[in-house]
Amino acid sequence: MTAVYNEHCRDCPRLAAFLDQVKAKHPTYFCKPVPPFGSDQAALLVVGLAPGLHGANATGRPFTGDWCSDLLYGTLHAYGFAKKPRSIAADDDQALINCRLTNAVKCLPPENKPTPLEVNTCLRYLKNEILLIKPKVIVALGAVAHNAVLSCLSAEDKTIRRSAFKFAHGAVHQCGPYRLIDSYHPSRYNTNTGRLTPEMFRAVFAKVREYV
Ligand code: URA
Repeated sequence: MTAVYNEHCRDCPRLAAFLDQVKAKHPTYFCKPVPPFGSDQAALLVVGLAPGLHGANATGRPFTGDWCSDLLYGTLHAYGFAKKPRSIAADDDQALINCRLTNAVKCLPPENKPTPLEVNTCLRYLKNEILLIKPKVIVALGAVAHNAVLSCLSAEDKTIRRSAFKFAHGAVHQCGPYRLIDSYHPSRYNTNTGRLTPEMFRAVFAKVREYV
C-alpha cells in the first residue's frame, strides 16, 4: 500500500511556489500539504476540494478555522460524526466519530482553483486513502471532489464508468462497493448565494445516516 499523504510532496510546481509565497507572508501558517483528519477505520469519508488560505492551510487540518468550518463541523456534529460543533485549531480537542475528512487536492491552490493537472497529480493519495479505508459512504463536496473520487474508483474497477455518474446535490450513486453521495461545496460563495442552505446540507448527512 502506498502513501495516503506526503508532507514533503512538491510535485506541483505552481502549488509548491504558492505555498512558499504564502509562508513568507504568513510565517505561522501551516503551508504544507494538509493531512486527512480522522480514523482510517471510518465508515464515512468526506472529500473536500483543497485547503482554504486562512483555514486548513493555516491550521493544518481540513476545513478548520475558516468560513466553511462551522457549517461542515456543525452538521457533522448534529449527525453524530464530530465530537464538537466547531473546529477552530488543530489543538482544539475536536475529533471525528466514524468519519474522516480529506481533500481531493492536499495543497492550497491560488484562488481555490487547482488545475486539472494538479487534481490529477494528487489523485494517487486519494485513491490510496479510499483503498485503505474502504469507506461505506463517500460524501463528495462539490463537482471537483465528485470527479476526483470517480477517477479513483474507475482506475481500480473498470466496470465503474465516470460518465455514468453525474454530479447532483443530494444524489446517491452506487459505485461498486461504495456509496457516493454528492453535495454542493459548503463554500462562502455557495452559502451566500443560497445555492446551498444549512437545511440542504443537513439533508445530505441525514441521507448518510441511512447507510452508516
Ligand atoms: N477547507 C478545506 O480543507 N477544504 C475545502 O474544500 C475548503 C476549505
